[in-house]
Amino acid sequence: MMDLFQKIQGDFIGLDTMYTLADGRKTRRVYLDSTASTLMMGAAHSAIQEFYNHYANTHSLLHFSAKISTQEYQWAHDRVLSFLQADQETYTCFFTGSGSTAGINRLARVFRKYQPEREIAIISLMEHHSNDLPHRKYAQKVIHIPLDNHDGQPGCINLDYLENVLKTNRGKIKYVAVTGVSNVTGIINPIYDIAELAHDHDTFIIVDGAQMIAHLPVKISGHKNSNRNLDAFIFSGHKTYAPGSPGAVICRKDILRDIEPEEVGGGMVDNVFLDRYIISEEFPTREEAGTPNIAGAIGLAAVLEVLDTIGMDFINKVESQLINNTLKQIKQIPNVHIYGETDYSICPRSACISFNIKDMDHGLVAAILNDYHNIAVRNECFCAHPYVKEMILDDLLEATTKLNEEDFEDAFKLKSGMVRASFGIYNTDDDAEELVKAMKNISENRDYYSDLYSLDERGNYVHSSFKMNGLEQFSIKSYVDHYVNQKQV
Ligand code: ALA
Repeated sequence: MMDLFQKIQGDFIGLDTMYTLADGRKTRRVYLDSTASTLMMGAAHSAIQEFYNHYANTHSLLHFSAKISTQEYQWAHDRVLSFLQADQETYTCFFTGSGSTAGINRLARVFRKYQPEREIAIISLMEHHSNDLPHRKYAQKVIHIPLDNHDGQPGCINLDYLENVLKTNRGKIKYVAVTGVSNVTGIINPIYDIAELAHDHDTFIIVDGAQMIAHLPVKISGHKNSNRNLDAFIFSGHKTYAPGSPGAVICRKDILRDIEPEEVGGGMVDNVFLDRYIISEEFPTREEAGTPNIAGAIGLAAVLEVLDTIGMDFINKVESQLINNTLKQIKQIPNVHIYGETDYSICPRSACISFNIKDMDHGLVAAILNDYHNIAVRNECFCAHPYVKEMILDDLLEATTKLNEEDFEDAFKLKSGMVRASFGIYNTDDDAEELVKAMKNISENRDYYSDLYSLDERGNYVHSSFKMNGLEQFSIKSYVDHYVNQKQV
């Protein structure tokens, strides 16, 4: 299996991308921003290229290409369900736009109608905004469950606290919605234990799987104890090595069946009259109004086929070693603070590590990693403000006097944030080594680097002499102009 894994690992679009750095060197980019968006798997790229020979609208019926498109698009749904071990009788899969966000908004609206008398949505403090704001908008009340505390460092969701809230509010809870893996710390939540707790207390479980599906095996149904099955799971292609951002929702059909789909339009109706319309009873047809992102869904399914062939247990084992080794090395670097419990044996994590370097702004560190080391990371709050603020403010408050959190933020116009290095299956020990080397170098030369940068009016760090010229590095217009010129020769 290692042989296939390594061949796939080396076959991603963008692994050889080169950029010119602030010191004039031209080097290969080290991509450590996979939690934002993964690179595209070569297999998905070529599968889509092949598919385009047959591309047609899935709403057309009788010509060859329409039949092939429809068949392959259907296969994409089935592939998602089988990858996630979701029983096809009980669950449906449908694709949505704009990644997981669209899917979670949809489900929040579904549950608003499904159980209007129940007012409360329960989520955790470590949620991405996409699994927080839709519940705030569509449930009457949201309860944020705090996290386990490991000597001041947060771990996963606090199960005792959750159980207590479930008990106290029994009969009033619409659902529990939690992330499988944090997009900030990579900390893994015990989703099947949470499912059991939710079901034992007569409510549902929705899992935001955006950061989970590419890194860990997932089993939606078929657990010995059926209370450990999940009711709904959401993820997106753009974090799963596929192009674009086809969002995918896997949900129990019985929950969706009694409610008119949230989105209506072409392709999901059996008949339309001037005064009424009849919605299809078929899944997933009734949930997908309009022409879908056919190629995106097929690319995503092609990725899942490859990941399944390698085996998610195998992938998880290799990635866990990489993350664990990287954590150990970063912990040795002076002046670096890693967020979240860092002992892998106490609190397993997947895919990402967020940190700060003492006395340096996260924006400055991310700029130096890019400009001098060609390491692509993300910084700021990663669309998870409450979680990031909780961790940052705890640290800062410890060092200050009597201000409460709000006054502290106001007084210092604090713009909290972190630097996040995140990994995909294409990352190797060499990439981790590059990161550790660069972090050591930055930590040892904080004053030197700080003097080279100043803040512009928008709060970005700007180098005193080096300026990346994006258009010189790449421009679609130049590419197309060149293409057209070639055709004219
Ligand atoms: N919100 C995504 C992230 O975690 C993009 O970076």
